[in-house]
Amino acid sequence: MNAEETLKQIAQEVAVCTRCDLHFSRKNAVPGEGPANAEIMFIGEGPGFYENEQGRPFVGAAGRFLDELLAQAGLKRSEVWIGNVVKCRPPGNRDPQPDELAACDEYLERQIQAIDPKIIVTLGRFSMAKFMPGVKISQVHGQMRRVGKRFVIAMYHPAAALHQPKYKPQIMADFARLPELLEKARAELSRSPSAQEPDEPAEPQQLSLF
Ligand code: URA
Ligand code: SF4
Repeated sequence: MNAEETLKQIAQEVAVCTRCDLHFSRKNAVPGEGPANAEIMFIGEGPGFYENEQGRPFVGAAGRFLDELLAQAGLKRSEVWIGNVVKCRPPGNRDPQPDELAACDEYLERQIQAIDPKIIVTLGRFSMAKFMPGVKISQVHGQMRRVGKRFVIAMYHPAAALHQPKYKPQIMADFARLPELLEKARAELSRSPSAQEPDEPAEPQQLSLF
């Protein structure tokens, strides 16, 4: 299966998934969307009201702001992949629970392996915690770090910037640096493409007994 087919397959599984309790209240699961060869994946928290209605990521107020931020960075929405750590809406937009994050993680892992992006941009703390456990967003936002064979940049969540105006100039400044960081990521990955530490556990070694 090529990357595009793999993404379609994952989307089909997500649409009917019952692995966690979020499936009871969802209207539409939101697998995420974007080209299979995207160099950047943006990963938010979970679907909100409008995303649950439409089955598409970041289509409400936070999504409109994300579109502006992308445009400001010279990126088209159609050239990046956008998704979430949980694919079904937590009721009332509550935080996703640890068991829900754990149940849903396999889908995101498979999406990342299929797309193999140069940069993952985390939007908000749940997505950040997956790649950089234990760090504080106020200390690391906008900084690009190597994680295995790619780079991760933590950004404030666009919804946080809409609700708390003090974050707005920071998220705008962080997005504005994306073209420069993408150039840097391309250069470094062409110099040293392989993982310093594996992204996922290596396949168990097949030991022959004979
Ligand atoms: N907020 C998110 O984290 N994800 C969405 O898809 C929409 C809003
Ligand atoms: Fe399945 Fe993820 Fe939806 Fe839970 S949130 S039902 S694990 S797709």
